[in-house]
Amino acid sequence: MRIGVAGKGGAGKTTVAATMARLFARRGFDVNALDGDPNPNFASALGLGAGETARLTRVPREGVMEERIGPGDEASLHLTRPLDEIVRTYGAIGPDGVRMLTMTGLLGAGKGCICGQHGMVREFVDTLGTVRPDDVTILDTEASLEHMSRATVGTVDTLLIVVEPYFRALQTLGRTVPLARELEIPNVYAVANKVRSDWDTTTIREYADRLGVEVLGEVPYDEAVAKADRENRSLLDSEPGSPAVQAIDAMVDALIAKPVRDATGEARTSASTAAR
Ligand SMILES: Nc1ncnc2c1ncn2[C@@H]1O[C@H](COP(=O)(O)OP(=O)(O)OP(=O)(O)O)[C@@H](O)[C@H]1O
Ligand SMILES: [Mg+2]
Repeated sequence: MRIGVAGKGGAGKTTVAATMARLFARRGFDVNALDGDPNPNFASALGLGAGETARLTRVPREGVMEERIGPGDEASLHLTRPLDEIVRTYGAIGPDGVRMLTMTGLLGAGKGCICGQHGMVREFVDTLGTVRPDDVTILDTEASLEHMSRATVGTVDTLLIVVEPYFRALQTLGRTVPLARELEIPNVYAVANKVRSDWDTTTIREYADRLGVEVLGEVPYDEAVAKADRENRSLLDSEPGSPAVQAIDAMVDALIAKPVRDATGEARTSASTAAR
């Protein structure tokens, strides 16, 4: 399963991505946590220490991926070395054995755009789907629709759009869904976050209904998330029994139970068959 996590700035993308990554790993999946935000904080939300986080370096395309031409002249992308070696070189193994890789990074003040990195992320996620089809790969994205317009998330099979019960966050959901359809992402869900009332639930569900998008689950507004963030700890280490963790845990179960559709819309087996 290749999951992209999108949504408005501050909606809770990284919180959901990091907590899900570890909860998938605890169920026996090989998990790849890819930070696609050039202002990265997936690693600290995952629970990596400050030293390990500081040593993470952006995964380059050169020396990591190459295009090979097959006997029928067809081109395909490959990793030039095993994923674990790539992780040893650029990334880190986080808590619960999650592989952490930083995929994007700014070039410096006034040093120009990072368009090429978006293409690299798209290709890397695609390649993981081919060479490690049973892994769960979770791509955290930046707060922008650019990862949609540049198709950075174009090779995920599942897109989670995290949404808060505020009009502007809902507007972002409304703009993201049609782009996800244009990219032909086969499984698109909304994730309601920071929910405090029945009104919040109803507002998000009605908005998602109008867009024809299923709400995968609801995460309550939870002081435990803010506390973990204040302490720079992973939510799972800080408050493992918190309502937010329980809600994200239920969403992991829901994803595992669902058939993962591929780009043709064909339902493949559910992810549950891939766990070790
Ligand atoms: N369910 C929740 N309850 C309370 N606070 C939350 C919840 N989810 C996220 N937060 C808080 O909201 C803020 C943003 O969360 P997070 O960093 O996960 O969002 P993001 O969408 O990844 O942000 P960005 O767009 O900057 O990448 C953080 O301070 C976090 O602690
Ligand atoms: Mg984030």
